[in-house]
Amino acid sequence: MSSELDALLKENRLFPPSEEFMENSNIQKWMERYGIQNYDELINRALEDREWFWDEFARELEWFQPYQDVLKWDPPHAKWFSRGKFNITHNALDRHVKTWRKNKVAYIWEGELGEVKKLTYHDLYRKVNQMANALRSLGVKKGDRVSIYLPMILELPIAMLACAKIGAVHSVVFSGFWAKAFQERANDAQVKIAITVDGFYRRGKVIPLKENVDKVLDEIPSLEKLIVVKHAKCSVEMKNGRDLWWDEIIQTQERECPTEIMDSEDPLFILYTSGTTGKPKGVVHVHGGYAVGIYTTLKLIFDLKDEDIWWCAADIGWVTGHSYIVYAPLILGATSVMYEGAPDYPEPDRLWQMIEDYGVTVFYTAPTTIRMFMKYGEKWPQKHDLTSLRLLGSVGEPINPEAWVWYHKHIGNRQCPVMDTWWQTETGMQLITPLPISPLKPGSTVKPFPTVEADVVDDNGESIREGGGHLVIKTPWPAMFRTLYKDPERYVDAYWSKFPGLYLSGDVARIDQDGYFWIQGREDDVLNVAGHRISTAEVESAIVSYDAVAEAAVVGKPDPVKGEEICSYVILKEGFKPSPRLKHLLRQHVREEIGPVASPAYIGFVGDLPKTRSGKIMRRVIKAKVKGDDVGDITTLANPEAVDELDNAL
Ligand code: PRX
Repeated sequence: MSSELDALLKENRLFPPSEEFMENSNIQKWMERYGIQNYDELINRALEDREWFWDEFARELEWFQPYQDVLKWDPPHAKWFSRGKFNITHNALDRHVKTWRKNKVAYIWEGELGEVKKLTYHDLYRKVNQMANALRSLGVKKGDRVSIYLPMILELPIAMLACAKIGAVHSVVFSGFWAKAFQERANDAQVKIAITVDGFYRRGKVIPLKENVDKVLDEIPSLEKLIVVKHAKCSVEMKNGRDLWWDEIIQTQERECPTEIMDSEDPLFILYTSGTTGKPKGVVHVHGGYAVGIYTTLKLIFDLKDEDIWWCAADIGWVTGHSYIVYAPLILGATSVMYEGAPDYPEPDRLWQMIEDYGVTVFYTAPTTIRMFMKYGEKWPQKHDLTSLRLLGSVGEPINPEAWVWYHKHIGNRQCPVMDTWWQTETGMQLITPLPISPLKPGSTVKPFPTVEADVVDDNGESIREGGGHLVIKTPWPAMFRTLYKDPERYVDAYWSKFPGLYLSGDVARIDQDGYFWIQGREDDVLNVAGHRISTAEVESAIVSYDAVAEAAVVGKPDPVKGEEICSYVILKEGFKPSPRLKHLLRQHVREEIGPVASPAYIGFVGDLPKTRSGKIMRRVIKAKVKGDDVGDITTLANPEAVDELDNAL
């Protein structure tokens, strides 16, 4: 990237947390225990003795048999807490029911139609045990794979915890994926059992998941049984001998269940994620290190305490939900909110209403959601008392400074630090992130978590401080994935071979003069315009910072002279109309924000952009459209009609 661009991109606003907030934080208290004076000393101590740091937190969990080594690192293969005997469900539930937390609420669940259910740790423990016994009675053994294809209902964490309890490996498939995607994943994992639902609610409509999955079950040869949760009470066909109702199979089961004693390194789950090829990658996580990593990050970064009400408003079908809705909050003994439906249904204040109703104190969401609410305007959060909030989080994509500041001001009432946390399905836990003692810069994920060594390198693997480069991690961390399911070569090739010994994240980032990290997006979303490297995320951020703009997607359009031209699709906020003058003003704005080189050659105004059901813009589809290629499979889109709209927009 040119230094001109770099200079123009600097975001200089600094938001330090209040003294009181810092003093009361878990991290500050922890540092005091070891006589650590400040952030720099913390980082130095942790880097000097990585094993000391993780050993301290691992000891806060319960081991059936102590581990012998904290870390064994044979690049690119790590073993954490080896020879330790452990079970993540034991730490998430069994451990708490022996304490005062037994009757503490673990989950407050709200359905889209407004129904509320609360489960205490004891309730959850019993339900998990019953399901674990039911799975065992169906012949599920340690190491067997179970596919869980459920929406955001309580049976989803129950099923995951039940699998883990008996040592089965779960593979959750996001309920927004459709049947073919489920089939591909279930076949790759060779699942014995699958768990689904009759139907669930989305924007007031029933989505018939069982009917959908019925179309592909015959194509999954390894599948023996399908367990069906009754939720929407829509009519479904149950196949004799194969399909079983959840309620019926747990009825006769004991409420106690012996826990499978697992090795730290035994697999806990497979979660499929997209790579550069069309075939999803089965990312494998294990019991021990994963548990320690996610527990520690939630405790230190989000500062979770017993009195907090935690809401990670992600979907459990993605890694964010696995780590920070299911396992980490339960290991911490926290109370979590879980919501079934669309965030803006029936009105754009659903989330704010729920924060007020449940007194949520710590809230974690994605930039795309924040930008959607910016579009609706601050009148919606203003209707509600959000003063219970004390900390906010962001994850999943670069957050543009305007959205960060809006979130900080209108949701956090300028009082709540915003933790912009960078991590991936593969990393399992947050890796580059602020801590409650960090001064924040809007749009920056601040610095690597203690013990983590991250860097930005050029094509030769050399550290660079000017402009953007490959974001790499130089040292192992406990919640790192261990392999790709049935594809150990791809694990090495895709992540560890470009720069041997360094983990290649696939993201482009830069590090500023203060050592703060700025994630610019995926490598494949980086454009080369006349020799200048430009991140689509940065151009988007600039466009979105313009007053009239709600959302934007930027892709490269092939150009015979410049290589690529910048092409942007823009959604305007309510009350603004597309016009040639607005295009001109936008280009002017981007010039001012980044530089003339980043000014979009093409601007198309659209009402919507193609998005996955989790709200991520499907750049692959937009790119294909812009290049005139076939858009391929668009069955996972939430709004396929948005694809046609792109045609006439430019
Ligand atoms: O590009 C980065 C982006 O999301 C990618 C990982 O996606 P996934 O595996 O689906 O996990 C998402 C939730 C952890 C990364 O390679 N990403 C994630 N967090 C951030 C981010 N980009 C910028 N800032 C973040 N805070």
